[in-house]
Amino acid sequence: MSGPVVIVRSVAALRAQVSAWRKDGLTVALVPTMGALHAGHLSLVKRGLELADCCVASVFVNPTQFGPNEDFARYPRQEELDAAALASAGCHVLFAPDVAEMYPDGFATTVSVSGVSEGLCGAVRPGHFAGVATVVTKLLLQCLPDIALFGEKDYQQLAVIRRFARDLDIPVRIEGVPTLREDDGLAMSSRNAYMTPDQRAIAPWLFRALTGIADGLRAGAKAADLCPMAISGLLKAGFDSVDYIEVRDAASLAPAESLDRPLRILAAARLGKTRLIDNIGVEP
Ligand code: PAJ
Repeated sequence: MSGPVVIVRSVAALRAQVSAWRKDGLTVALVPTMGALHAGHLSLVKRGLELADCCVASVFVNPTQFGPNEDFARYPRQEELDAAALASAGCHVLFAPDVAEMYPDGFATTVSVSGVSEGLCGAVRPGHFAGVATVVTKLLLQCLPDIALFGEKDYQQLAVIRRFARDLDIPVRIEGVPTLREDDGLAMSSRNAYMTPDQRAIAPWLFRALTGIADGLRAGAKAADLCPMAISGLLKAGFDSVDYIEVRDAASLAPAESLDRPLRILAAARLGKTRLIDNIGVEP
């Protein structure tokens, strides 16, 4: 279907729509987002519609996953454009609650996931993954989809979501979707719009640094030698700082040194006020 997307703002209206679908024997996919939608987000919708009959996308800029000095206030908000993009992707419903609907007066519960939330982005953004886990738990329970789709672009986030969904017995299949990139390799992100043209020209070095480490690991080199070299390379290319570049076990995210099992190389670096993250897999 590619009619206009139906916008619902309350949990009650979302549940009524999903119940109506269920009565007709239809299955449901959920794609949680914070809006400013790009082709990467729409690839999750497309995959959702391959795996289920109906698709709900949520757009909610979740205050609890932003730190006090982060970009919550300036995060791009563009509901009309998002609704049009979702309609053209064939998405059926846009769930766009306001903050009071998500966090009613007296809200006092947090879902926090130890282990996979620690290190990497968790070390640089304290409280971030508890904010993500709490809001995604709510979205899953509000919608009760058959499948929920998340991008590998946010690989640690995907690991956190898989962990709590399993730990809390939330009856939903969590589906990871590969990262969509620009032609020069830069991972698509709503935050790419923050960059000046000069910064945008430097940004693809992040992906090149990851592929360089993957080549080194394939040639038998060790993470402990490759990662510091990649960090100096990024600083030389014009990045202002590097939060981390690390090689981890692809499944557990435990630190890893050499290519004796599937690995994930993950990085976060800053260009001015813009923080970019990316990751790639590498197989023995
Ligand atoms: P947001 O950054 O809007 O991303 C929404 C979803 O799109 C996430 O699952 C993310 O991994 C995926 N995504 C982003 N860029 C992508 C790309 N280039 N290719 C493929 N998928 C991509 O992640 C969040 O929002 C929030 O933390 C959220 C899960 C909605 C909780 O608030």
